Amino acid sequence: MKNLNYLICILFGLGITLSSCNQSQNTNGALASSAAEKVYVAPGEQDEFYAFLSGGYSGNLTVYGLPSGRMFKEIPVFSQFPTSGYGYSEETKPMLNTSFGFVPWDDLHHPDISQTNGELDGRWIFVNGNNTPRIARVSLSTFETEEIIEVPNSAGNHSSSFITENTEYVVAGTRFSVPVPQRDMSINEYKGNFKGALSFISVAPDNGRLNLEFQVLMPGFNYDLSHPGRGKSHGWFFFSTYNTEEANSLLEVMASQNDKDFIAAVNWKKIEEYVKNGGGTKMPANYAHNVYDEETHTGTSTMIKEVVTVDPTNVPGALYFLPTPKSPHGCDVDPTGQYIIGSGKLSADITVHSFDKMLAAIEGEKFDGEAYGIPILKFEEVLAGTVKSGGLGPLHTEFDGKGNAYTTFFISSEVVKWKVGSWEVVDRKPTYYSVGHLMIPGGNSRKPFGKYVVAMNKITKDRYLPTGPEMEHSAQIYDISGEKMELIYDFPTHGEPHYAAGCPADLLTANSKKIYRLDENKHEYATIGADDARVERKGNEVHVYMSTIRSHFTPDNIEGVKVGDKVYFHITNHEQDFDVPHGFSMIGQGTSEILVMPGQTKTSLWEPKKVGVWPFYCTDFCSALHQEMQGYVRVSPANSNIDLSWSLGE
Ligand code: CUA
Repeated sequence: MKNLNYLICILFGLGITLSSCNQSQNTNGALASSAAEKVYVAPGEQDEFYAFLSGGYSGNLTVYGLPSGRMFKEIPVFSQFPTSGYGYSEETKPMLNTSFGFVPWDDLHHPDISQTNGELDGRWIFVNGNNTPRIARVSLSTFETEEIIEVPNSAGNHSSSFITENTEYVVAGTRFSVPVPQRDMSINEYKGNFKGALSFISVAPDNGRLNLEFQVLMPGFNYDLSHPGRGKSHGWFFFSTYNTEEANSLLEVMASQNDKDFIAAVNWKKIEEYVKNGGGTKMPANYAHNVYDEETHTGTSTMIKEVVTVDPTNVPGALYFLPTPKSPHGCDVDPTGQYIIGSGKLSADITVHSFDKMLAAIEGEKFDGEAYGIPILKFEEVLAGTVKSGGLGPLHTEFDGKGNAYTTFFISSEVVKWKVGSWEVVDRKPTYYSVGHLMIPGGNSRKPFGKYVVAMNKITKDRYLPTGPEMEHSAQIYDISGEKMELIYDFPTHGEPHYAAGCPADLLTANSKKIYRLDENKHEYATIGADDARVERKGNEVHVYMSTIRSHFTPDNIEGVKVGDKVYFHITNHEQDFDVPHGFSMIGQGTSEILVMPGQTKTSLWEPKKVGVWPFYCTDFCSALHQEMQGYVRVSPANSNIDLSWSLGE
């Protein structure tokens, strides 16, 4: 970057005074050379941070570098992904199984990186499917989806997938309340009858395995966002609510009647204890738990038939409501765990609750009635302060670890910086336009890395070259290392990024997996040596045990396949070099190609429909002789007597 500055100085120095290259001040935003320098990562150099942006309705998670804004990868999670064959290969299809059958899409919202003692530990990233309620765990070693658990009794899994400070739990709060259990009833009977499930899913410390431990069945409000307590408030979880009116029609009017809705404070340690001692009700359920095994390279799906539900009124002291003005959306907790920030999306102000005051109010029974048996704490008794923002429509807040908070304002399109404790606004910068979430790496932890904030904007128009009516969404990077925020870069994002999570690059690079070791491959259909390559028939199933290495398939000619067969190509990549995948695709195949990484085995199903001699080829440009990497399958009529045979080089 220094070199670039030098270069710019030389270029500009020809006509302009050298003082314009002074690094110390810049007032022209992204137009200034010092801003360009801040995001410029020279060819061959690497970014300082990873950023994981949710892909919204793409169903996937995208990986970017900061500050460059370069996109490195799209990680398929809830959606089929022809680029790698995820959700098309036989091994990954089970990952997308649900109680509704195969659902190869979702609306992915909020990533959160695993933590130890409230600090990012870089093991996994959790994401939620908002549409068909699911939580996924993605490995930050392989950058692949390792596990997906469906959330029963839930609908619109929005206040999710946030984790507690030692990754004890990943939570899932339902956006829509529904009948629990689901049943045929009149929608008009919503009020008082529907329930909102808050689910606590444990994460095994060694391998990350997920297990739905309990669900708290709450009143029929809408549970919007959530964040964990940390430090002093560890053991609590906070969920924002709207529609405490329990309206079931024209919510834009009917759910805006109450001046205040609630933030629900859940003492999960108390409920955990209650459940451990046999509390709660075991309820019949049916939800999918899908696990990808890295050794067998294969996913399995299991249906789970039971869930423990908890009526919060049976656990005194476990649940309180904090009144919060104007339909709160974001519900964020500062790095010390002292302050809970509720952003009333119809408000100009930001409401900050105090954890200490909350405990004192509980102790002193400073209640303002109750809702369905859950005590409502007096607003003035829990209020720490109000940020008089001067903006409109606050949504989400992140922290820089230096005592500052940054809140997005959707309606007034800006990021507002304010001081935690004095509630004084110290800076504001416009966003282009209609910003939703924002992200500071580690911003949802005890230890944020307060160098950049990324604003994720809903509207892109006029920022980039037009691409017809539809444009990608957009993010903007602000340098927040100084007193004033500085907009330094715009970059388009894929799908609709809701939340994002970021971490220092060196937290992940050392553990990033480069190959799958062939000698550790335990896939049932692996071809460990080229000598193992063969073709077997079992009734109308044909199993092709195939190996690949630059630049041929073994075997590459197969005869004896018949119309009506199901042909499974089990392909093992024998390469043991980083970044040398081979692909496989078959003409007329009703799925996608598959991309097989070094040492990995993947299976592609082909159901030949027509007699003939049909080619297959490698889809990834793997060597100078990539175009030669091809083969043929002869398909004979269903009643043919031709024996199976296969060959290479004959
Ligand atoms: Cu293997 Cu191209």
